[in-house]
Amino acid sequence: MEAVHEDCIVQIRDDEPGYNLNKFCIPNHYMEDLEYVFIPHGLIMDRTERLAREILRDMGGHHIVALCVLKGGYKFFADLLDFIKALNRNCDRSIPLTVDFIRLKSYCNDQATGDIRVIGGDDLASLAGKNVLIVEDIIDTGRTMQTLLNLLKQYKPNMVKVTSLLVKRRSQTPAYRPDYVGFEIPDKFVVGYALDYNEYFRDLNHICVISENGKEKYKK
Ligand code: HPA
Ligand code: MG
Repeated sequence: MEAVHEDCIVQIRDDEPGYNLNKFCIPNHYMEDLEYVFIPHGLIMDRTERLAREILRDMGGHHIVALCVLKGGYKFFADLLDFIKALNRNCDRSIPLTVDFIRLKSYCNDQATGDIRVIGGDDLASLAGKNVLIVEDIIDTGRTMQTLLNLLKQYKPNMVKVTSLLVKRRSQTPAYRPDYVGFEIPDKFVVGYALDYNEYFRDLNHICVISENGKEKYKK
């Protein structure tokens, strides 16, 4: 897989202070459970629009199967596909796009367990010969994505590209870098825009940093 150039990535610095919760619309039930707004919803949308353009530029010659990694990827998937559909209906060169869904589970509280469960994926055989776009919410250690890529290879797709809204910046060289990245973020636990902490916070529009209070309150 080709290396991703640094200038293709929007980097959020380690000392990014974020935005005060009181300056944005946050559900009241989460006000005590978050530190600050980290990536406002509008910025996510603007960046996603640009990723859609780049994905179509590279993959637009052939039928694309967009594979959503649930549950965390569902917002990014839906918004990304809306942008791709808008491009498709507004230019002469358009391509058919079909969708598929898969679930992988690897987290307990905010810790990677190293234990990955694949749920669903009954239709993976239909990926044979197709150009597959895997859509993820976040790549942390990269281990989950390695597992998924190894699994998909068995179904002999023509091409597999990966887009992740977020990648975490880690001190060790990451095991895996996706082809299209929305934002590279510091190693903090973030929630919102379908990213969860034990299933909570998916009902939050902005990507926020969780507070100690939030971690304790929604601990398993
Ligand atoms: N938030 C939510 N889910 C995650 C994260 C995170 O920071 N890292 C890996 N999975
Ligand atoms: Mg997740």
